[in-house]
Amino acid sequence: MKVIWNDQIVDRSEVKIDMEDRGYQFADGIYDVVRAYNGHFFTLDEHVDRFFSGMSKIDLEAPFTKDELKSRLKELIEINKIETGNVYFQITRGIASPRDHIFPDPTDVPPVFTASTTVVPRNQVKMTKGITASIVPDTRWLHCDIKSVSLLGNILAKHTAHKKGFDEAVLHRDGIVTECSSSNMWMVKDGTVYTHPDGNLILPGITKIVLLKAAEKAGIPVKEETFTLEDLKQADEAFSSSTTVEAMPIIEIDGVAVGQGKRGPVVEKLQQHFVAEIEAQCGSLTVTN
Ligand SMILES: Cc1ncc(COP(=O)(O)O)c(C=O)c1O
Repeated sequence: MKVIWNDQIVDRSEVKIDMEDRGYQFADGIYDVVRAYNGHFFTLDEHVDRFFSGMSKIDLEAPFTKDELKSRLKELIEINKIETGNVYFQITRGIASPRDHIFPDPTDVPPVFTASTTVVPRNQVKMTKGITASIVPDTRWLHCDIKSVSLLGNILAKHTAHKKGFDEAVLHRDGIVTECSSSNMWMVKDGTVYTHPDGNLILPGITKIVLLKAAEKAGIPVKEETFTLEDLKQADEAFSSSTTVEAMPIIEIDGVAVGQGKRGPVVEKLQQHFVAEIEAQCGSLTVTN
């Protein structure tokens, strides 16, 4: 398998990550995940924009333009013959020795960029059946809008849910639902869809952008407003969203059914519109997916 390592496409085995890479020592870096269907990227511009915005939020200067990055990523999925799968890409502030909290001078220390691909088919069974979740306190930092490689808060939350046998962790701060450990969170009440507004407490999801447009097209009212754990208990439907899971029904939270305990009509409609958007950008999903 080929990967990108700085400005080259090389065999996975050739990559050497230094023990003093600031990504390794400080989690001083930004990442993103973009999906391809039928060998075409979906919402690549939005993912690359968010990646650049993340770099600027941590004062990390990009070693390439957005267009250069996009053509490199396209080259990678072509070489690896990725039809339906994900590209993970990340940048760190580079290799600086001795270890020091102070940023190194970027003219002396170039960033380290890597990207790799995985084949990930759409999980239509799960998208129809839905998943379970558990409520977990959101103990992450206050820059959740930055797609930082430091995911300790997220993975601890996911682990807490997994240990109890649930698929995802629904996070809350003082009873306000923020998002999930690796996805945005949504609920439906009386036909209106609710999701946490963007800001420093959640990641501005790209799937969220697509779903907001899908809801508008479908005539489904949406409020980007906070909702509480109590509201969630009374919800007719709940679902999460991310690049890899698209719109995923959450049918049970901590062993209690959400609404009818199965995929509801609102998320199903949004899923249909989501597929239409994928097909508009990447071609028909019926043959290979
Ligand atoms: C914490 C968190 N929130 C939301 C999302 C959804 O973002 P996107 O739709 O861009 O994949 C992710 C995706 O990884 C995430 O990790």
